[in-house]
Amino acid sequence: MRIAVVYASVTGNTEELAEMIQQQFTASSIHVDLFSVKHFPLNCITDYDGIVIGTYTWANGTIPGEMLALYEQIESADTQQLTTGVFGTGDSFFPYFCGAVEEFRDMLYVHTNLAVTMKVELRPQSQDWSKCRKFVDCILEQLEHELQPIG
Ligand SMILES: Cc1cc2nc3c(=O)[nH]c(=O)nc-3n(C[C@H](O)[C@H](O)[C@H](O)COP(=O)(O)O)c2cc1C
Repeated sequence: MRIAVVYASVTGNTEELAEMIQQQFTASSIHVDLFSVKHFPLNCITDYDGIVIGTYTWANGTIPGEMLALYEQIESADTQQLTTGVFGTGDSFFPYFCGAVEEFRDMLYVHTNLAVTMKVELRPQSQDWSKCRKFVDCILEQLEHELQPIG
């Protein structure tokens, strides 16, 4: 089973959340490849069984520019078998809290097997560990369902 966690982060909040998610996969004895989106090879998307996307939100609730190529690649590649999850950090002071998570969610729901979404207020806190655990469990359940041999 190959899983990648791909994130964008400017001030470190989403990166920290991505690392917490990676640690929860590790706690389940699952290795994941962790990439900043800048280093993720877009043409390798279909090599993975699962892609977990992490994004901050800027500019009136929209997807950051550095995440657009990933968004478009998933939209245009053959990803119907891909299990996905999307998480992000944002600031509820703004009208579109974690708007980029919602934009990704809508696209992933149409083009992939979207398992779960998660939004976190700014820097992750200790209570967010249990959210990360649930998030990872949802992805693993979906992957098991997808990989279930029939007959
Ligand atoms: C100019 C600017 C615009 C922002 N706009 C939004 C927004 O529309 N919605 C939101 O939820 N958060 C917004 N934020 C908050 C960031 O998404 C939040 O600080 C996030 O945790 C940053 O993630 P990072 O530390 O991974 O870069 C904005 C922050 C800045 C600086």
